[in-house]
Parts: sequence; C-alpha cells; structure tokens
Amino acid sequence: MGPWPLDPRGPLAESISFVYWILFGCAVVVLAIVVGALTYSGIKFRDRPGRVAQQIHGQNQLELIWTVVPTLMVISFTVLSWDRLNFINDVNSNVAMTVKVEGRQWAWGFTYPDQTIFKLPDGTVLQAGEQLDIPVGQKIKLELTSKDVIHSFWVPNIGGKKDAVPGHTTTMWIQADQPGTYKGQCFEFCGDGHADMLITIVAHPQAEYAAWAKTAVEDAARASSPETKAGRDAFLAGPCAGCHTVKGTTAAGKVGPELTHIASKPNIAGVLSPVNQDNLTKWVHNAPSFKPGTLMPKFDGVLPDQQIDQIVQWLLTLK
Ligand code: CUA
Repeated sequence: MGPWPLDPRGPLAESISFVYWILFGCAVVVLAIVVGALTYSGIKFRDRPGRVAQQIHGQNQLELIWTVVPTLMVISFTVLSWDRLNFINDVNSNVAMTVKVEGRQWAWGFTYPDQTIFKLPDGTVLQAGEQLDIPVGQKIKLELTSKDVIHSFWVPNIGGKKDAVPGHTTTMWIQADQPGTYKGQCFEFCGDGHADMLITIVAHPQAEYAAWAKTAVEDAARASSPETKAGRDAFLAGPCAGCHTVKGTTAAGKVGPELTHIASKPNIAGVLSPVNQDNLTKWVHNAPSFKPGTLMPKFDGVLPDQQIDQIVQWLLTLK
C-alpha cells in the first residue's frame, strides 16, 4: 500500500487527499511564480556601473494582482475545506455500526456494538485488542476515549485522525472501499510504548463478515466462561495483558507469546510440558527459574496466590 495521498482506500482518505493535492498544486505554482519573479528581477535589475536606479512610487496594477489573487485563493481554500470538513465530521448519517475504542498505555481496545452477531452466550459483547475487523463499503462510527493519557487514532490509507482523550468521548468515522489490511499507529506521543501502539483494521467483504464475527464470538466465548471470569478479569486488569495477546479479549500485548490457544500447546515456553494446572502454576510463580533470561517475570509474591490460581484456571480454558 502506498502513502495515503497517493493511495487513498476510503471516502475519508479520498476526500482529504483531494484537498491535499489542490493545496499542494497551488503552493507549487505560487512558489514557482514568486521564486521566478525574484530571480528574474535580481538578474535584470542588478547593480551595474554607470546605472542609476529609476525611482518609482507604487504600481497599482501589480499591487492589485498580488492582493486580489491570494485573497481569492485563501477564500476558495476555506470554502473547499469547509465543504470537506462537513463531510468528514458527519459521523451520524448512514452509520452501519458503532464501535467503542479505548486507548491505553500502550494498546487499543475495541468493543463491538450491541448487535446479535457480536453477542456472547454470557450476554456480553465481543471485544478485541489492537485489531478492528469491519465490513467493506460501510460507514463505521468510532467513539474514542482513553484510560490514561491522550492518544490519537490514525489509519492513514483509510483516513481521518482523532485524539482519544481521558474522561471525554470523541467521535470519527471510517470506511474501507476494498477488502484488505490497513495499518495505523497512535499519533500522539504517549510514553515509552507509543511506537508499539499499533492499529490494524481488517476489512472483510460484506458477505464474509458474518462468518468472521461467528468465529470471533466463538473464540471470545471460550475465553469468557462464567466459571473462570475471576481469572479472566485478573489477567486483563493485571500485568499479563500488557505482554500477551488473547484473541477475543482486550489483551493485545506483543512482548510475550500469544496465548489464545495456550491450553492446546504441547508445552509452556518450550520448557515445561504438558500444559496443565500444575505446570502453569509453577511457571507463573517463577518463570525465570525454569527458563533463565526469559522476559516473563516472577509473579510469586507479586500477585496473590489465589489470583494466580484463578488466572491459571482461565488459561486452561483457552483451547
Ligand atoms: Cu498512544 Cu502514542
């Protein structure tokens, strides 16, 4: 995918790049005229022996031109931008669905709308971290907020850019014209992990979207059984989610391995096998004692034993 002004993939990016190229084109023409006239005058009227500069007082025609033309340009840019801004800021008409987006240090969390296809058996709604899946050709409204500091949501080829502000909800909309994967990035410096605060938008053909949602809800349902809710909550609220990804939840860490199907793996980090309650408990308590140098810290004494047990119970459901 090319840079967005050359390769817009949705109505927002198209709209913005249209204005971008007009402004850029006019700026280049103005630059050429100004630098051209400057160079021409510099050479033509340079100081030469025996020549005395002619004394003049103003040049009405010229002054009129360089006042009226820029004024007209600025007015047309304003009108053009105003028109586009109305289109860009219209977050409410023809919206197919509304997704809640939360920025936090340092990941994005998405909550899908309260619609049947996103409903889990326990009555909650599908959530995801870092990756947002949308249907092609539909207007999706985003309601952004932040858990801690100001973040900014931007997926260039789809367009639009909006701050996620703590204690406040901002809105924007996105739409992809073609199926594909669109990459974005937090655009407001928000601390150490700012560069890792990536956004992936996957646009599915409309006919395939329901099938995607079905699989996603199944993954999420496995991760959210009521018996293991305490463990899941502890995992998502605690340090675990900062390093590990579990699909169907807001855990989207990239430092450690993905744990979506940890219970079906042959071993834990290649050193403890099989994946069972006993080994997982030992691992979470003191991973470095089994694998020196691992980035996984020791949680013995950091988290209460009961909480580690609950987390392990939950991990064992992730088949
Ligand atoms: Cu979040 Cu930068």
